[in-house]
Amino acid sequence: MATIVSGSEGVSTLVAALRNGDVVGFPTETVYGLAADIRNDDALQKVFAVKGRPTSHPLIVHIADPEQLRELTTEMSVACEALTRVCWPGPLTVIVRASVRVSRICTGGRDTVAVRLPAHPLAQRVIRELGAPVAAPSANRFGHVSPTTARHVVDDLGNDINVVLDGGASDVGVESTIVDCTVNPPQILRHGAITPEDIRHIVASCGTEVVLDSSGPSRAPGMLDRHYAPRARLVLHETVDAVPDDGAPVLRCDSNLVEVARHLYDQLRDLDARHIPVAHVVLPARQGLGYAIRDRLSKAAAGL
Ligand code: TXA
Ligand code: MG
Repeated sequence: MATIVSGSEGVSTLVAALRNGDVVGFPTETVYGLAADIRNDDALQKVFAVKGRPTSHPLIVHIADPEQLRELTTEMSVACEALTRVCWPGPLTVIVRASVRVSRICTGGRDTVAVRLPAHPLAQRVIRELGAPVAAPSANRFGHVSPTTARHVVDDLGNDINVVLDGGASDVGVESTIVDCTVNPPQILRHGAITPEDIRHIVASCGTEVVLDSSGPSRAPGMLDRHYAPRARLVLHETVDAVPDDGAPVLRCDSNLVEVARHLYDQLRDLDARHIPVAHVVLPARQGLGYAIRDRLSKAAAGL
């Protein structure tokens, strides 16, 4: 069973494990990641094995200094420079052309790579002390709800990894916004806490538009219709008035969206812990953080 470590000692333990080729649980401000040293192909392969994830679904590379992006890519668009300058450190992932230095195991065989600079201070310390970026998908079993505490990681993957660094509950609570910067105009592939309005505003400063396309057939492999899923069946409603009075619990996700995002996955896990078969959900409007919350809830509700 994995051990939960914390503080400076915890950072050193995690870095030693990464150097040893282990995969480890590490905190970020969005959700917890399952991290491996990007220089170690065996460790990268372990990430796919532990998660139960197809090897064609690429991993996000986490850096601690914006300069590290230049070693991972061959070209940077003006929009990418603006987005990373404004949003990093923070919950933004950019897709860029991968340099030869990036293992194709990490990219799922593609010539593009996803990169982000997390805001969580412990995530940054781990990457700095290791002296190299780490690849990290969310630290959940494939298709399951993403973890927002060290305990969630142990609950899901505790039998397959040795150590998780505790960085407290993730502040944002939903995965990063992904923007494909290899195309012009840039395209939002996954909604997150950096909203479409933010992205549009930033790229407009470079005289560019942005394509909002996370509803069509996804260009980000691994973003299946049913994902982020609890066992409970979720019934989605646009307004609270539409919720039938049938005694099933009601999750209000239509106001205080920062709080809703922060606690979303914990609430979904909680439904399962309480063996609740069906719950009603009131969705937020399509604006700001509402896009990301709607996206995760639709995926959690799909296919049942
Ligand atoms: O907030 C986050 O992004 C968290 C934390 C741990 O940083 N990570 C995360 O990773 O959500 P993961 O693996 O669960 O989701 C990564 C997504 C996948 O849908 C994958 O398909 C997409 O990023 N992705 C990665 N590399 C890509 C690429 N080269 N082209 C298109 N999509 C890519
Ligand atoms: Mg994930």
